[in-house]
Amino acid sequence: MTEKIESIRNAPIGVFDSGVGGLTVAREIIRQMPDEGIIYFGDTARVPYGNKSKDTITRYSRQIIRFLKTRQVKAIVIACNTASAYALEEVKKDLDIPILGVIRAGAVSAVKATQNGKVGIIGTEGTIRSGIYETVIKEMMPSARVSGKACPLLVPLVEEGLLHDSVTDEIASRYLSELKAKYVDTLVLGCTHYPLLRSTIKRLMGEDVTLINPAYETAIELKALLEKEDLICCPGVCQPQEKYQFYVSDLAEKFTNFASSILPQQVKETKKIDIENY
Ligand code: DGL
Repeated sequence: MTEKIESIRNAPIGVFDSGVGGLTVAREIIRQMPDEGIIYFGDTARVPYGNKSKDTITRYSRQIIRFLKTRQVKAIVIACNTASAYALEEVKKDLDIPILGVIRAGAVSAVKATQNGKVGIIGTEGTIRSGIYETVIKEMMPSARVSGKACPLLVPLVEEGLLHDSVTDEIASRYLSELKAKYVDTLVLGCTHYPLLRSTIKRLMGEDVTLINPAYETAIELKALLEKEDLICCPGVCQPQEKYQFYVSDLAEKFTNFASSILPQQVKETKKIDIENY
């Protein structure tokens, strides 16, 4: 019995996103919980998620969860705002392991940070259309004035690696001008791809606007959840070569190169799987 519990505790955490964006969450989990193993899945064949329907994103999320469960993960983080907004509540219903998304964490951080109660949210069309950030923020701070702006072109720009590029600057500037005009003092990076554009967004919004990366608070929330469920792994158990494993649904090599530039260590290999089989 004890052995079984040990093996469950030492199992990896499943993390998924439509592509590379969720690596910003994986990076934060690695920083805050360096002993934990991670199985990452990036749905690179079906990115972007932001312009797809709730039904489609829920179906994709269920497939990915089924895949992650074949890797015996002990908990799952939906490192994607769109899938968190659309699918978290649905998939939670029939899951027997802990799962969390990134929205609550982002909303909590925004409420803590805002001074004037004017909060901006940037995200995919799906996340903004769902209105989920506004709902969760207003539960905690009914007087908040929340303004959302969908920024659909930013995800493909990030997936293409155009992180510091005049085209990205121009497009981001057009999207952000609306929120600047509303005098938001806090801006939630409500898509896990956007922290990779942090310096551009910071420059455009100005020093006085606090940028919220939900990844930080998500990792804190994850740690608390694992502690509550008695699922924290034993230090030093995960073998370094197996500790972080990466899977995608397409273009494994491109992902490997990108992941190596984002994570604290070199990614040696990414495996491609056919996610439609799950
Ligand atoms: N990074 C994801 C999010 O946080 C999805 C972006 C996309 O695929 O459109 O919403």
